Amino acid sequence: MAIERTFSIIKPDATRRNLTGKINAIFEENGLRIVAQKRIWMSRAHAKEFYKVHAARPFYNDLVDFMVSGPVVVQVLEGENAVARNRELMGATNPANAADGTIRKLFAESIEANSVHGSDSPENAAIEIAYFFAGNEIVG
Ligand code: CMP
Repeated sequence: MAIERTFSIIKPDATRRNLTGKINAIFEENGLRIVAQKRIWMSRAHAKEFYKVHAARPFYNDLVDFMVSGPVVVQVLEGENAVARNRELMGATNPANAADGTIRKLFAESIEANSVHGSDSPENAAIEIAYFFAGNEIVG
């Protein structure tokens, strides 16, 4: 199977509760390598642009408010089938529907404060990675 990269965000609800290490351990124990990582505080403009695909959704403004409410950790994860693997590890968007043992089941507070974001396709992963990282910041 091909080695792939995906984009991940550890969201403000998780950084506030100091969960970065626990979430990273789940990635690393399940075949994903963190090949780039930085802790940032997103600007409102940056968050609006990142989530613009959801601009027409009723939760868009609250989502942007939440994503700028504290620091986030943006990451590139690498491994076999990394996009799908990470989505398995994250669990369903709504923690009420997330399977046991997934990051969102373990840590998410709500559908909005759901601890992590992960790309939904290899194409979007490439776009999202380029949005936050220069090529020389990714070291596999
Ligand atoms: P994420 O994977 O970051 O992509 C979009 C985010 O919107 C999603 O995770 C949720 O945190 C957030 N969100 C808030 N409300 C909803 C909702 N009703 N349906 C889907 N996503 C929602």
